[in-house]
Amino acid sequence: MEHTENNAIYTAGYRCPSNIALVKYWGKKSGGVQLPANPSISWSLGDLYAATTVKAMQKVDGQSFVFTLAGESKPSFEPKIAQFLSKIAADCPWLSDFTLFIDSENNFPHGTGIASSAAGFGALGMCLAHIEQHIHGSSDLSTQVNGMDFWQRSSYLSRIGSGSACRSMFDKPAVWGLAEAVDGSSDLFAVPLDGDIHPNLQGWKDVVLIVDDGEKSVSSTAGHALLDAHPYAQARFGQAQKNLGLLVLAMREGNVDQFIAIVESEALQLHAMMMTSLPYYVLMRPNTLAIIEKIWSFRESSKLPLCFTLDAGANVHLLYDGKIDETLMNFVQTTLLPYCKNGQYLCSETGKRPIAIL
Ligand code: PMV
Repeated sequence: MEHTENNAIYTAGYRCPSNIALVKYWGKKSGGVQLPANPSISWSLGDLYAATTVKAMQKVDGQSFVFTLAGESKPSFEPKIAQFLSKIAADCPWLSDFTLFIDSENNFPHGTGIASSAAGFGALGMCLAHIEQHIHGSSDLSTQVNGMDFWQRSSYLSRIGSGSACRSMFDKPAVWGLAEAVDGSSDLFAVPLDGDIHPNLQGWKDVVLIVDDGEKSVSSTAGHALLDAHPYAQARFGQAQKNLGLLVLAMREGNVDQFIAIVESEALQLHAMMMTSLPYYVLMRPNTLAIIEKIWSFRESSKLPLCFTLDAGANVHLLYDGKIDETLMNFVQTTLLPYCKNGQYLCSETGKRPIAIL
């Protein structure tokens, strides 16, 4: 942090992971900004991150922000950031005094269909929460702002940019949304799951198999909105609530079979909701299913701890216990690579927290 009295400059920088949901957020509550219709839980993906720095300077030419992507101007990103800043303006009145110089960079290719907005808005929310702490006179991030500590406030602000981004702040599994099974859970920000996770479900990794690296035919924003009039919505929200409770139990007890059953069911329920929306749509591609079937038959024959999940897209996340890394990567190389677009895949550990870079 840099701060000079005469010419106030506040800076902050964070490297913030993306995350993958195990129980999915799909659908928003009405009557609020970005409130989830059901609770979700995720693992952070520490090796797939956004590195963002923000410099807040006394307002220059009435501009609220200047954005660069790895140092280069990127006008196509500006509307999303402008919209985000206007949504948090009432909550962060200090913003009106400053121009924010925001520079951001992902360490994975943009447009590979993995949650770049979760990492990007996660990092931006953390930078803003950090600067806000200093404007409120705290140098150790301990000050509560609007009744929230630094982590809650980072998550709260990120949530406004992209709902799933609010879960990117923690090394423990992150729970967002009022969950019957998790004390202290909230619709406003994510919380780290307290208590111990069984060693069977620690140290898992993710290989993201890139089936399609193009733009999605239906955006997440449009997809969420289709749940408002979805005939199965209430049943789905109930299932997610129940699945979250069962998943937390499975993680505490180390019940890998139960974990796998819930995670895969959640992925398919997410896509089933898309396929039964009106208008209906399908984001899976033939190779998505081909990979899922290969994963199922490999698990059947090897009995190894691994499963798949899906995001709102065609790519497949292959989750597995890090202890079987070598066998797993061999399976990926020999069996799954032919189904990946141009042989692309990305690897990450789970459960890593953000890092301050300034
Ligand atoms: O964060 P959004 O609004 O892009 O929603 C994405 C939701 C899913 O990625 C499909 C599921 C989840 O919980 O991350």
